Amino acid sequence: MRKLTLAVLLFLAVANVKAQYNPLWIPDTLSGTTFNLTIRDTFTQILTGNQTITGGINGSFWGPTLIWNKGDVVHMNVNNQLMDTTTIHWHGMHLPALMDGGPHQPIAPYTTWSPYWKIDNNAALYWYHPHLHMMAQEQLEMGIGGMIIVRDAVESALALPRTYGVDDIPLALTDRKFDALNQFVAASYGDSMMTNGVVRAEHTIPAQVVRLRLLDAAIERSYNIGFSDNRTFYVITTDGGLLNAPVAVTRFMVSAGERVEILVNCTGQNGTSVDLKAFNSELNGQIPGGENFPTGAPLANALGHADFNILHLNIGAPTASPITTIPATLRTNTFYPESSAVATRTVTISDSAIGPGGPTFLINHKFFAMDDIDYHVPLDNTEIWEVKSTSGFGHPFHIHDVEFHILDINGAAPPAYQDGWKDVVFVPRNTTVRFIARFSDYSDSLKPYMFHCHIATHEDIGMMGQFVVGNSPAGIMNVAQNSKMKLYPNPVKGILHYEMEGGIVVQNATVINVRGQVVANFSLNGSRGELDVSSLANGLYFLRLTDGEGKTYVKSYLME
Ligand code: C2O
Ligand code: CU
Ligand code: CU
Repeated sequence: MRKLTLAVLLFLAVANVKAQYNPLWIPDTLSGTTFNLTIRDTFTQILTGNQTITGGINGSFWGPTLIWNKGDVVHMNVNNQLMDTTTIHWHGMHLPALMDGGPHQPIAPYTTWSPYWKIDNNAALYWYHPHLHMMAQEQLEMGIGGMIIVRDAVESALALPRTYGVDDIPLALTDRKFDALNQFVAASYGDSMMTNGVVRAEHTIPAQVVRLRLLDAAIERSYNIGFSDNRTFYVITTDGGLLNAPVAVTRFMVSAGERVEILVNCTGQNGTSVDLKAFNSELNGQIPGGENFPTGAPLANALGHADFNILHLNIGAPTASPITTIPATLRTNTFYPESSAVATRTVTISDSAIGPGGPTFLINHKFFAMDDIDYHVPLDNTEIWEVKSTSGFGHPFHIHDVEFHILDINGAAPPAYQDGWKDVVFVPRNTTVRFIARFSDYSDSLKPYMFHCHIATHEDIGMMGQFVVGNSPAGIMNVAQNSKMKLYPNPVKGILHYEMEGGIVVQNATVINVRGQVVANFSLNGSRGELDVSSLANGLYFLRLTDGEGKTYVKSYLME
């Protein structure tokens, strides 16, 4: 009897320990060349008790992992069933600006957007996420997004773990704040770590070399990755492909938008366990997630400047043909020599006293505007971008269209684990990062690509700029430009948005064709709005807005 009681107690104790973890969710995969993605408002059982209102792609939170092969032409059908406009951006992809899914490719509710392009990226982990101007945080927070694994011949020839979910585990890292009813609270920082959407996640991995593909999908936080036993692990990729050789480390900090693939050798450790952790107590207060906010401060959160678990790993039996060694080399990358650059652009990151809710951070000393183009990059230019930060805080800087190579950080060569192809670079406070990139293949003097801070709250406030790649830098957008009036998208398909600076109220809109004929008239009353111009034929038009004093503002736009 006594023995039985003890056994029951022991069982309960073990069951109790077990209950503190939830099984890791591994997103389904989609492969082939046609991909159907449906974005929905839905709900998910994340905590015990009430379900949480979420957004999901082909599911209830987050989305499937897309498997793409370099060289394939992929066709995407993105169906928006949200009761709101959205966009889907293919983060890290080299593709035509029109297919990029940035703020200029909105997907109206209940419509389908079908971009396609040829995969040109190296094998690595990429991702897709919403990118609607001023709505990135809100839609990302709902859980909209997903991972992308690109495969290529170079990577496939290596003895690396690549059985999805078994020895090759995709991990999207984020954190959320919940209210008393288990609903997400809009916040830069959450109190609960979420790994693939699961709080207190655990997973069983085989006792062999395991590959973890980590994506920082957080709103703001960086994660200083390491293991509870401080074991060495091996960095094998940067954002845009394999490094020349694995780099042994015990810590690796990923920042918002950034990815890294690591190998961890668990050979012979069957029956043990280890935690994948964020050692964020080691980060200084100028790194997102390293701040030590006093309790009650607006951004205070349970994970700030703390160490916490990302994933509890149970190590089980090895698979039938395990990888048991870390390869000595991976591939031979050829980076652009600094001498091949024909231009240097200086991009500034600074703190500003102005902002909608107080002081904010700016790129190039101004807020993002849909129709301001910062740079006209000639096609095939190799350029150095010098990102000069005078900000008192660190920011993950991201650029669309290209993968770049870091030349130096405050004059010093990048560490070995960053010496690869990248599309996000963490720019610490008061630091200058120089990178080199080549802008090839796709020219379009109207459709811009973005560059921005990947902290969603900063991006939404306007810490973003844009550039076009093309050989006719003037572009048709500049035929008539009135700086007090913003028009987008341009070219327009059906609905034209206008926005007047400084709250100028306009009362009348006239659309004029290139022959000077008035082809449409609208009466208005406000400083911003939408005009349905879908009945007009394709071509160049002028929109003339008139205010209450009879002052006119003219800008050209293209109907496509
Ligand atoms: Cu991942 Cu412009 O974004
Ligand atoms: Cu991107
Ligand atoms: Cu920022």
